[in-house]
Order: sequence, then C-alpha cells, then structure tokens
Amino acid sequence: MGPTTTLRREHDELCRVINAADRKTELFTKTRQIDGDWVRSFVDFSRRYTEDFHQAKEERLLLRRLRERAPAETLGVIGVMLAEHRGGRVRMDRLLDHLPAAEEGDETAVLSATEQLSAYVRLLEEHIAQEHNVLFPLAERVLAEDDVRWLERASAEVELEEFGAEERARLDALAVYLADDGDGDDR
Ligand SMILES: [Fe+2]
Repeated sequence: MGPTTTLRREHDELCRVINAADRKTELFTKTRQIDGDWVRSFVDFSRRYTEDFHQAKEERLLLRRLRERAPAETLGVIGVMLAEHRGGRVRMDRLLDHLPAAEEGDETAVLSATEQLSAYVRLLEEHIAQEHNVLFPLAERVLAEDDVRWLERASAEVELEEFGAEERARLDALAVYLADDGDGDDR
C-alpha cells in the first residue's frame, strides 16, 4: 500500500462513470433530449462519492499532510487541485439549474445542461490526469511510512463513521448503474 493506492482505485470507478457521462453528452446533443433520471443519479454520485467521499479524503487527509510535510513544494499544486474541486461543484450546480426546463423539452435548456455535463467531464478527466502525473508522484516521494499508516487509518474512519457500509454499497451500485448507461447495456 502506498499513500495513493486507495485514491487511485477510486479514480478507476470515477473514470467508468465519467466515460458513461461522455457518451450521454453525445446522445443528448444528437437527440436534443435529456435523460433526467440518469442525470439526477449522476449528480447524486458526483456529490456523494466524488465530492463528499473521494475529494473530501484528498482535501482533509492527503493534501493536509502534504502541506505539513513540504509546504513550499506543494503550495502551487494544492491550490490548483482545490480550485478544480470547486470548479466541479459549480458545474453540477449549473447542470441542475438547467435540468427542469430540459426535462420539459426545452431544447436550449437541454443543450445548456449538456454543455455543463460535458465541461464537467473534461474538467474531471484533466483533473485526474493531473493527480496521476503531478500530485500522486509528489505524495509518493514526500510522504513517509508513518504518513501512509495515518492516511490509511484516517481514510478508514471517514469510510466507516461518515459513510458506513450501507451508503458505500449504495454508491457502488449507483456507479454500476451509471456506467452501464442506466439501461443495463454494459459497453
Ligand atoms: Fe482524485
């Protein structure tokens, strides 16, 4: 186990959902119709899994410990990572703003909502690439073994105390539903 093993595994799950969202943006653009149920489930997953679970662990645990261990070296990259997390939250808010009209069949709202979803997908793809190419190698270089043990323990506490087995299972099932495009077609 390294300091980023669990986070990397969570990125795999995130990427499957993000790839499905990318396919949805093509479909919504082509048909000028939006699948409101799928989008609401996607926003639920983004809020609960991506933000409250995965990014919260990055912000409260990994970035915090990195800041303590190597403040000068990590300052810039931490600022960028936090700004991108905030950027994702704004995209989800705007997506929800357009959703009611889009579900009513307003084509302009469909395209606006799709634009937000598409921007979110690009943001997350680039963000995850940045974490893999810059942040995680930095963490693997800077953090010592006792940092890794602390990260593992604190991560397990977040999972257990703030989420619990039931919510984790719900989010895993939600990820499968979303990655299958919500229709059981496992591409
Ligand atoms: Fe991440």
